[in-house]
Amino acid sequence: MSEFKQTFNSSLGKKLIMALTGLFLCTFLIVHLGGNLLLFKNDDGYGFNVYANFLTHFPPIEVIAYLLYLSILVHALYALILTIKNRKARPVGYAHVNKSPATWSSKNMGLLGSILFLFLVIHMGDFWYNYKFTSKIGFKEYRTDLATDKTQSVDYVPTSPNFEKSVSTENNFEIVRVKDLHARVASSFTNLLYVIFYVIAMFAVSFHLLHGFQSAFRTLGWVHRKYTPIVYFIGTWLFAVIIPIGFALMPIVYYIQSR
Ligand code: HEM
Repeated sequence: MSEFKQTFNSSLGKKLIMALTGLFLCTFLIVHLGGNLLLFKNDDGYGFNVYANFLTHFPPIEVIAYLLYLSILVHALYALILTIKNRKARPVGYAHVNKSPATWSSKNMGLLGSILFLFLVIHMGDFWYNYKFTSKIGFKEYRTDLATDKTQSVDYVPTSPNFEKSVSTENNFEIVRVKDLHARVASSFTNLLYVIFYVIAMFAVSFHLLHGFQSAFRTLGWVHRKYTPIVYFIGTWLFAVIIPIGFALMPIVYYIQSR
């Protein structure tokens, strides 16, 4: 077996891959949160629907998306393999003395990761799968008056089954027709149980990343007296506080607005 293959088949190699895929997933979360902030725009989903269409129809992003799905699978699979191996090597757990949230997170990464994996299966099944592979999501037409910049929206029924998107101009109106993913998001978040599930999953994101972000840097050997406190700061405030709160606000705000 080549040295390269040997390294990546070893436990250390698997940990390195987990660190790299984990950091890639962290960068995805920043982009995903940024894009989803369009859900807070009061425009009947115009910005969000155009953004979702761009994501699924721009080839370079599609390539990155497939890399993302692969990273999720590899990260989860290697976590499972390493956990089983560690359990076999040391069936009795360590005595816990330190009860800080960071220590609790580090001891429960498997549980937190499993909640996240379940969340991802349900989440992607609801939005991503239905958007890409079913006809459950309808279309919307946005008409913008180019003189006043005011936009009005109506439901749109395409004449062709292969219709994806169109942009045209008619009598000084810009007409954009796109899939209405926004309506799907809004309807999913009218269900209280679903909203509670999302909020619990965002706690799992928070605790998973509280330990995971800084742990990835340690695994990669990127430890430095000056920079490690910055990594801890970003892991705590950006990944364990701001990002999970930002995501959790989406189902909560939509649920409150639907009442
Ligand atoms: C709670 C608020 C969230 C909302 C409203 C939301 C919404 C969406 C929507 C509408 C899509 C399909 C279109 C798109 O790619 O943008 C999507 C895809 C996806 N979401 Fe989320 N999301 C949320 C949180 C999360 C979190 C916390 C994670 C990860 C832990 C996540 C992981 C994913 C993944 C992996 C995809 C597929 C990405 C792609 O193909 O581009 N989402 N999400």
